[in-house]
Amino acid sequence: MSRRRLLQGLAAAGLGTAWLLPAQSRPAAADRIRARLAANPLLTPFLGVDDTSGDRLAESVPTRGRWPEALRGRFYRNGPALFERAGQRYHHWFDGDGMVQQFTLYGGRIGHRGRLVQTSKLMAERAAGRFLFNALGTAIEGGPPITGADSINAANTNALEHAGRVLAMWEGGSAYGLDPKDLSTQGPVTWRADLAGLPFTAHPKVDAGGHLWNIGTMGRHFVVWQVGPDGRLLSIQHGSSPYPGGMVHDMAVTGRYLVVPLPPVKLDFSRPVGDGPRRFEMDPGEPLRILVMDKADIARRRVFELPPQMVFHIGNAHEAGDGAVVLSFVGAPDAWFLDRGAVALMAGEPSPAGGSQLQTVRLDMASGRAQAERHAATVVEFPRINPKRIGLGGAEAAQWLLCGASWDSAGGRDASLLQGLQLTHMPSGRTQRFDYGPQVVAEEHILVPKPGRSGELEAWVLGTTFDAAKQATVLNLLEAADLATGPVAQAVLPYVLPLGFHGNFTAAT
Ligand SMILES: [Fe+2]
Repeated sequence: MSRRRLLQGLAAAGLGTAWLLPAQSRPAAADRIRARLAANPLLTPFLGVDDTSGDRLAESVPTRGRWPEALRGRFYRNGPALFERAGQRYHHWFDGDGMVQQFTLYGGRIGHRGRLVQTSKLMAERAAGRFLFNALGTAIEGGPPITGADSINAANTNALEHAGRVLAMWEGGSAYGLDPKDLSTQGPVTWRADLAGLPFTAHPKVDAGGHLWNIGTMGRHFVVWQVGPDGRLLSIQHGSSPYPGGMVHDMAVTGRYLVVPLPPVKLDFSRPVGDGPRRFEMDPGEPLRILVMDKADIARRRVFELPPQMVFHIGNAHEAGDGAVVLSFVGAPDAWFLDRGAVALMAGEPSPAGGSQLQTVRLDMASGRAQAERHAATVVEFPRINPKRIGLGGAEAAQWLLCGASWDSAGGRDASLLQGLQLTHMPSGRTQRFDYGPQVVAEEHILVPKPGRSGELEAWVLGTTFDAAKQATVLNLLEAADLATGPVAQAVLPYVLPLGFHGNFTAAT
């Protein structure tokens, strides 16, 4: 399949057409929104950063508690950060240009650096002094033609250091490479010359052997990437989707399979986000499909069908002793957050919780039947496992799942933002919880294995929060085996970072 044909698939998926609401312009709308955000202490991170003073650097961050000597390495996060130019403001949280955060942790000393990813989009808009390109939820008038997904690649969703470079990833285009030393942008990663510009989505998985697996989707076509521990492309496979044109956000890897949820959500780019007809909508009568493919040959596959729901994130997938694939994921009853919640936050408007809940299903590879095992009631998102367990099955399979969580105790605060953590023992349903409190927004936390230890909970929990009372971003460290006690150490940054999505830790060698 030619690169041109695959890029045509992107266009068929809706990218590159004219659509959406025009960006908010000052003073009528954008200034009103800024005033609303400034008046709601929980939402001030949605003010974002600007391009001239957006980078952040704190060589030594004040700490409290005990940061372990053995915790040494670099913790990366990524998220949308630049929301305004020349008086225009994006509508949708996912539209902002990406900013990668790097926390360095060495023997109790904490440093931080944050830099906007210098994408071709950002550089063109910087030179023009205004937004040029339509974004996921915002129309920009009078821009140049979009020639491919990387024209509008915001590199704003995940950051992972792999084979000596930081990958800043988005959903529909190339990963951007960054230098771990100073987060300077090296440019879009081209895994092989003829594959330049093909999508490399934001949720690759690195298995226990250091192999990175990922997918990319373009309308009815998709690709499966396998990258070796040294950063060289080992294979690329092409396939066709059993549900073309939907949204594919995350994937899991087992010893034998790749597992990809295909939620029945269609993106109608002719419709605006916000009020009025829904732009991101559940496709009536369509199930949630789970595509399970053999890594050695993705043509060998099964498609399972589950009740319709929206899925952003997988917790894990593993092969059980009987050959079934056990999948945990976070599902929501509809695409409300994608369509409305992420717009309301940007506008400084309170939102209800999106209703995303942890679920487990057993996928019988022999019969093709899917059996739901449990449906927990807590609102959760951003599920993560101990990274040493990625791809492992049987007795070595991950049993514990860490999520951001929100409970009724949130009271009147914006319920679409998480305020705590939940660690769930998947076989039994037993949980530990920690609640940061109503004045704190909990971002994704991750499990960091302790050096030289192999127990699943012989790990730290590392993650950022936004403290609305302090108006500061805080780096938190908890003990996984004693999550309910809360942070054993913190570092309070001298500034507010925009709320981000995903990140990963790289241990110092
Ligand atoms: Fe994600």
